[in-house]
Amino acid sequence: MAAGKKAPRITALVAGNWKMNGLKASRKEVSGLARRLAKAERVGCDVLVCPPATLISLLKEEAKGSKIAIGGQDCHANASGAHTGDISAEMLKDAGAGFVIVGHSERRADHGETDATVRAKAEAAHRAGLVAIVCVGETEQQRDAGETLKVIGGQLAGSLTDAATAKTTVVAYEPVWAIGTGRTPTADDVAKVHAAIRETLVGRFGEEGAAMRILYGGSVKPSNAAELMAVPNVNGALVGGASLKAEDFFGIISAYI
Ligand code: 13P
Repeated sequence: MAAGKKAPRITALVAGNWKMNGLKASRKEVSGLARRLAKAERVGCDVLVCPPATLISLLKEEAKGSKIAIGGQDCHANASGAHTGDISAEMLKDAGAGFVIVGHSERRADHGETDATVRAKAEAAHRAGLVAIVCVGETEQQRDAGETLKVIGGQLAGSLTDAATAKTTVVAYEPVWAIGTGRTPTADDVAKVHAAIRETLVGRFGEEGAAMRILYGGSVKPSNAAELMAVPNVNGALVGGASLKAEDFFGIISAYI
């Protein structure tokens, strides 16, 4: 971005990652959320629910006519082939997804995903016409060693595709030690990391990087959402546990109402 140019207006995104939770009965959480959103006068953010792949079609149907978009939690890099148990970005798209999370720390840890794997998945998402939500974040050990910005810089460099634009890519900063623990960084710490991510994105992608959404994730709840969402360069949230119930998730979305 040229010096002196005004920062672009970014529409925030509040995304729910249901992880390995949810059965068909969970559709009532989506209809409950849709009802609450419809009653709100103005919802100043985009809303996304990423259920297990088994529920994408069903929830897409349930969300019809509402503001709620549906996404996947992971995809394979290939479009099809002999990969038992895997799901391609094209399949997610076909089922009704508009987004896919890639490189979540649980997949990096449980499935040994490297930055190169994550980048290939982000490329697959773009190929299929999905928005890729690319996750980065440091472990507690890395944080204690003062390596947070170095780790995140490396993950961004390795995981983002060169063709990434503000329309095709969302970055989610999720400190691993804040996920599911009830602990969050201070607003100051979040501000520092998000500013560094913004600088990196602008350095690599110019105006597109200035307009890319950077989400914060890790123990976001209705009680801390307003404070975290007010931090500069925080353009929404990636929410785990508190996205499972319509009431809680709506409580977080309310930071933008
Ligand atoms: P929690 O909100 O449960 O801490 O999970 C965050 C997360 O990992 C979302 O992707």
